Amino acid sequence: MTIETRIDTRNSRPVSSGEKVPRQTQEIAQPEFMTINVRLADGSLFHCEAAEGFRVMELIRAYGLPIKAECGGAGVCATCHVRIPEAWRAKLPEPSDEELAKLDEVPGADEHSRLACQIEMTTDLDGLELTLDPHSLHAQSIWTAG
Ligand code: FES
Repeated sequence: MTIETRIDTRNSRPVSSGEKVPRQTQEIAQPEFMTINVRLADGSLFHCEAAEGFRVMELIRAYGLPIKAECGGAGVCATCHVRIPEAWRAKLPEPSDEELAKLDEVPGADEHSRLACQIEMTTDLDGLELTLDPHSLHAQSIWTAG
């Protein structure tokens, strides 16, 4: 013998066996996905899915691109060095003094340089373009755009 218990989730009460319970539909908010466009030194371009609140370094890594990011986002290794095109620089928040100090230690860094671990994704950055510095890539990795 099987005993079936149904719960009317609208009223949180047990439902008798003959009673019809209307299906309850629940709207689940879909996460808002955005994109960042990551270019490697060889010119290949990758469109990575992005979500608000994540750091750009985490998004690049989650996509599977071979970014070193050796300190895991603590801002102390500079192996997440990226270059931001002029059109996007003004949309980014200003780098902190600590980020600027770290970038001063990076050979070849310039006014387009940022640490990807210090950039938090926001809706204003949907479509962000950046180039990964060759020194921030694992050397043995070979990637082609797909
Ligand atoms: S991951 Fe180390 S400075 Fe960004």
